[in-house]
Amino acid sequence: MTVSATVALPACSGTSRTKAPTFATAARLRPIAGQRVVERSVRAKATSLDLGGTTVETWAFGDTAPGPLIRATAGDLLRIRVENELPADTSVHWHGIALRNVADGVPGLTQAPIAAGSSYLYEFIAPDPGTYFYHPHVGVQLDRGLYAPLIIDDPHEPGDYDLEWVVVLDDWVDGTGRTPDDVLADLTGSSGDSSDSNSSDSMGGMDMGTMSMGGAPPFGDAGDVTYPHYLINGRLPAAPDVLRGKPGQRVRLRIINAGADTIFTVALGEHRLTITHTDGFPVQPQDTGAFYIGMGERYDALVTLGDGVFPLVAAPYGKEGQARALIRTSSGAAPDAAVHPAELDGPILEGADLQPSDASRLTAREPDSSHAVHLSGQMMPYQWAINGAPYGKNDPLMINEGDRVRLAMMNMTQMTHPMHVHGHTFALPSGLRKDTVLVKPKSSLAVDVQADNPGDWMTHCHNIYHAEAGMMIALKYRK
Ligand code: C2O
Ligand code: CU
Repeated sequence: MTVSATVALPACSGTSRTKAPTFATAARLRPIAGQRVVERSVRAKATSLDLGGTTVETWAFGDTAPGPLIRATAGDLLRIRVENELPADTSVHWHGIALRNVADGVPGLTQAPIAAGSSYLYEFIAPDPGTYFYHPHVGVQLDRGLYAPLIIDDPHEPGDYDLEWVVVLDDWVDGTGRTPDDVLADLTGSSGDSSDSNSSDSMGGMDMGTMSMGGAPPFGDAGDVTYPHYLINGRLPAAPDVLRGKPGQRVRLRIINAGADTIFTVALGEHRLTITHTDGFPVQPQDTGAFYIGMGERYDALVTLGDGVFPLVAAPYGKEGQARALIRTSSGAAPDAAVHPAELDGPILEGADLQPSDASRLTAREPDSSHAVHLSGQMMPYQWAINGAPYGKNDPLMINEGDRVRLAMMNMTQMTHPMHVHGHTFALPSGLRKDTVLVKPKSSLAVDVQADNPGDWMTHCHNIYHAEAGMMIALKYRK
């Protein structure tokens, strides 16, 4: 049988190509008495961005990446109109929010894609405070400039800090001679410009250096793509974002990894960080000099500012280069763009080792059902799967409303996968609440979900190339 790569691709290419059911218009939400309504509109469009001396053509929300911060208070009704001015279908997913299913932004599962030139109104209540972000759920669009922070404030939190800074990390390739779609085509060997798609030329998107170093603890092979740039708040290290404060001030950092294929190690030179939250939920405060953050994860940290100019560095795990911002509390020369804070060489906190705050624990309960989530796949050929088949060919996980559901994740591969569940926050065996967790090579992790948000939800790897190459599965409530 002869099947060309281009014909074979749609079977394993994810949400945008599965046979689309038809979706009714979402029922409008009316605010209940006293409820605040936060109305915004967001334009997804082609634009050019100055990364700091380097200008790239890309797609973004408005004319910046990260896009516009959306901020509300827990319990508010958000009404966000997304205008699609891109030359392609899109959608927006509100990553980490336990929102109503119809607003989850997954084409083919919760809505029809937003066609070029049209718009979609996302209406939802954000029940839990925390640090979140939003991005498309179509193809590898997340790896363009289409990402932005979403912060839900806690009406009951004292806010024991003087300043708050949002720090968004990203790995960047778009507009540097390749688009993320080109990178995916290179990885899958399906680029249409060559008859011998398995030639060494098609390896352009793969980080052979990282692959050959495979097995470096703790995450093994951590990524597939070599990026020319790493960014903090959309800026290159040589022309960094500068965050200004005064010596002695306490700052809350809200750190978001919007990268597509990169785990980062984060450190602030000459400072200790106190991690207070992950994925929106409070943890028992934990001091560290540096910590890892996987794609789709968020960490909040408190820091007391020293006197001077300090590098806030995000080093890409297993890759060359770094992202950097500067924190400035007094005059003085900025450190070199390649500065390497000593904290990066000390102990590095793994988020899964954090302990939950008592308030964020699920009530103790044995699971009513348990579901295997087997992660498999490899680089050659570039195919990733859950439970033995790529998305679209694997069977949805079927669960009952009200149950405590165990997802027994088992990573059969040589790579680390940041696994994300939509619409819920799960509990690790320690009780730690997260919505995205790094599952290490050749290891297992069971997480428990309280099935309290009916609908059809995605569970997937937040390496967006893995997700598009099949590493997704639907989690559906029985009706
Ligand atoms: Cu941020 Cu389905 O993901
Ligand atoms: Cu993965």
